[in-house]
Amino acid sequence: MKAALLVATFTLIFVYLNGGQAAKPHIVFIVADDLGWNDVGFRNPQVLTPHLDKLAKTGVILNSSYVQPVCSPSRNCFMSGYFPYHTGLQDGVIRPTSPGFVPIKFTFLPQKLKELGYSTHVVGKWHLGFCNLKYTPTYRGFDTFVGYYTGAEEYYKHTREYDKFSGYDLRFNTSVYSEAKGKYSTRVFAERAVDIIKSHDKDTPLYLYLPFQAVHAPLEVPPEYENLYKHIQDLPRRTYCGMISALDEAVANITDALEETGLIDNLLLVFTTDNGGPFHGAANNLPLRGCKATLWEGGTKGAGFIYSKTLLKKTGYLNTGMMHAVDWYPTFVELAGGENTDPNMDGISQYDMLINGGPSKRKEFVYNIYDKSNSSAIRYGDLKLTRGSPGSHSDWYPLPHYGEGSDDPPQENVYQFRPYMLFNISSDPTEHFDLSAKYPELVAMMKQRLENWEKTRVPAYQPPDDPKSNPDLYGGNWSPGWC
Ligand SMILES: *[C@@H]1O[C@H](CO)[C@@H](O)[C@H](O)[C@H]1NC(C)=O
Ligand SMILES: *[C@@H]1O[C@H](CO)[C@@H](O)[C@H](O)[C@H]1NC(C)=O
Ligand SMILES: *[C@@H]1O[C@H](CO)[C@@H](O)[C@H](O)[C@H]1NC(C)=O
Ligand SMILES: *[C@@H]1O[C@H](CO)[C@@H](O)[C@H](O)[C@H]1NC(C)=O
Ligand SMILES: *[C@@H]1O[C@H](CO)[C@@H](O)[C@H](O)[C@H]1NC(C)=O
Repeated sequence: MKAALLVATFTLIFVYLNGGQAAKPHIVFIVADDLGWNDVGFRNPQVLTPHLDKLAKTGVILNSSYVQPVCSPSRNCFMSGYFPYHTGLQDGVIRPTSPGFVPIKFTFLPQKLKELGYSTHVVGKWHLGFCNLKYTPTYRGFDTFVGYYTGAEEYYKHTREYDKFSGYDLRFNTSVYSEAKGKYSTRVFAERAVDIIKSHDKDTPLYLYLPFQAVHAPLEVPPEYENLYKHIQDLPRRTYCGMISALDEAVANITDALEETGLIDNLLLVFTTDNGGPFHGAANNLPLRGCKATLWEGGTKGAGFIYSKTLLKKTGYLNTGMMHAVDWYPTFVELAGGENTDPNMDGISQYDMLINGGPSKRKEFVYNIYDKSNSSAIRYGDLKLTRGSPGSHSDWYPLPHYGEGSDDPPQENVYQFRPYMLFNISSDPTEHFDLSAKYPELVAMMKQRLENWEKTRVPAYQPPDDPKSNPDLYGGNWSPGWC
């Protein structure tokens, strides 16, 4: 009796000293670039990702987690919690020479997490604007940044060529980071992440955002990883698979550091792709239709999982609950003990679904509503409506095995699409059967919903290329200062 009372008293004091809450969990948010649905070992045994597989299988595999068709728009979702057709980023990526950005009025996730006491770090690809310092990571909520501003570059030289321009693109905070010249980016970023983890004060909650360069083009990997796949004849596929295995090792090094420091004991790890795989770049999305840059499931259904040693009530299963990239923002805010106070945000906290294994709070979402072309797709329950063309790659692309050293993709079919198409994603996740002719009343209902969503569309902001972006004007570096 006395002992129990003593324990209770100490618990009370402990809770009081901790502000009445358990310590806030650390969050590690890993994003792979251009990783296809079928490019993870837990789905396709051709791909060797033993560490990712282990985390996925002892965590929760996300089977209905949607992303945008291309890079900048998905990253916009992660950082702002808004669909890109609400921020002006719906029409595509930010090109190196175009002064695009996510408007400053959107509070980025790390800004919000800093208010909640987090240390915030980003390692890897930004791709959310850099023409002015105010659009860059350390001005948008991150304490530190090691990475690059543009959407793609050389993995060793860290240079990006675009149009007639060429420049180095790697930074530590706002300074050019030339020490990493010649070093493979997956290693540079893993090492930096390990440094952050090892020097982190355990009592401060950590938000570590890790948007890896891997496995985006150009296809480059140290030979020891490519050599794991000597049996794959197709050279691009062999290299691409090697890049995934290097990424797998990077994640292993990071989780080792999390174990060593004990951060893993109160941590949520998320792994997701930013969009579907580009089949012409050796990725694979089978059994899904289409690929990166299309509104088909192959472009928008993201490979991903979550893992935690201590926070998940239910583990080791496939979660089929519907979620979208915009949901991470409010989910993390809730996990951090905060509240999402923005009633207009598109994201919905999926804390209950992810942490407790409860039902999804989401019944519908916008795949995208393009501005220039009007092409769009929405989801409502089982149903998906498309308007216009979902994109120019609309086949079910086989695993590349075109022949020794060859990289000629197969001839693509040419389709004539109806102006509106209707798919039942629950019964037909691979989009083989357009039901629009069979269910005109469902098409009308879905069209109404699309038009409703569309009312809040903002114009796409895709400013023309600006020669003032020329790296030659900044000592050979892609740099802020031209908008
Ligand atoms: C980056 O910024 C952080 C936070 O201001 C600072 O502690 C660190 O020393 C900076 N690192 C470099 C290399 O500029
Ligand atoms: C993982 O760590 C080992 C040991 O430090 C290192 O040799 C290897 O290059 C690291 N791998 C990556 C992808 O960073
Ligand atoms: C896009 O839709 C609007 C409204 O439905 C229409 O006025 C416009 O002509 C369409 N533009 C294109 C390029 O189809
Ligand atoms: C869509 O598929 C689900 C699952 O098979 C089914 O329950 C539902 O009735 C279907 N909806 C339509 C409109 O066919
Ligand atoms: C998971 O997603 C795939 C691809 O869309 C689908 O084929 C499969 O049926 C889904 N699994 C479950 C259990 O819903």
